[in-house]
Amino acid sequence: MTIDIISVIPELLESPFGHSIMKRARDKNILDVRVHHLRKWAVNEYGQVDDYAFGGGAGMVMMCEPLVKAIEELSAEAPFDEIIFLTPDGERFNQGLANRLSMKNRLLMICGHYKGIDDRVRQGWVTREISIGDYVLSGGELAAAVITDAIGRLLPGVLNDETSALFDSFQDNLLAPPVYTRPVEFRGMKVPDVLLSGDHRKIEEWRHEQALQRTEQRRPDLLA
Ligand code: ADE
Repeated sequence: MTIDIISVIPELLESPFGHSIMKRARDKNILDVRVHHLRKWAVNEYGQVDDYAFGGGAGMVMMCEPLVKAIEELSAEAPFDEIIFLTPDGERFNQGLANRLSMKNRLLMICGHYKGIDDRVRQGWVTREISIGDYVLSGGELAAAVITDAIGRLLPGVLNDETSALFDSFQDNLLAPPVYTRPVEFRGMKVPDVLLSGDHRKIEEWRHEQALQRTEQRRPDLLA
């Protein structure tokens, strides 16, 4: 899969993909993340990519021309399956959407800044608008990093244990059960006996029961 990201602060996206699982995905050539500086398509030699909002008001708006030129140049290599704009008024991101996006080959993400992007880009070029939650970030970069991470770890061959993403919280609309490692007793707190029993059927039953309980307590909306 290839994910292209257009940003005015590409530095924000250097570290998130340089470590751990995302690094492994890139090293194995399963995921190619390419970050593009929007200024490459600026309207003048000063690197201008934004301008005052028509109608007045505080805050700058990202201009059509640099964004559309970027989209057209990157699309010319191969068409995108989705052109995603990260915005707090978009569809709310969740595991189901991560699963669906992980089945695409080629995604483009546009990170907004300032007051937003000229609405004509949204009307004419963007195919999907996504929010990562009901709060406002100072730009789309962190949202793009969150979505890329959630998608990347689902790609076959990225996680060591092929099946482990299947047991993540949310994959079956249940939160994940608690986990423990050595020692068996820590400051008087013991690991549940069933996990030491070696009885795999019982362990699975216990885990399912715990997952249900956790979901009922913390996120009853997932069961509704
Ligand atoms: N840009 C600013 N806030 C955002 C959010 N909550 N989700 C996605 N993109 C954003």
